[in-house]
Amino acid sequence: MLNKNYGFTFMWHNVIKDTDLKDGSIKGITIDGKPLLIIKKDNHVYALDLYCTHENTSLDEGFIENCSIVCPNHFASFDIKSGRVTAGPEGSDEKIKDLGFYQTKIEDGIIMVDF
Ligand code: FES
Repeated sequence: MLNKNYGFTFMWHNVIKDTDLKDGSIKGITIDGKPLLIIKKDNHVYALDLYCTHENTSLDEGFIENCSIVCPNHFASFDIKSGRVTAGPEGSDEKIKDLGFYQTKIEDGIIMVDF
């Protein structure tokens, strides 16, 4: 969507209360039909696509390792700060796509995501 001042506008969606997501935790949630993975790490909030780009495993069953979310199925991993693939499926040379990555902000104690 174009905006004469900034070139585009954000479409912010309320997701969850900031206090409902502890530091170091991950949560899968669907907002307005969009499945999202919300991660809070070192008091920053990140939003990515919920499903692994390999075989659609829900990444809220995965775990955080350093700055990546690791899929529990074949252990592909994705950078939580960009959605980029940091490791492909274990034992495979298959190239997989990055996860979608979305801007976040906290306003009035509510985590919001732009999509
Ligand atoms: S489904 Fe995620 S790595 Fe295979």
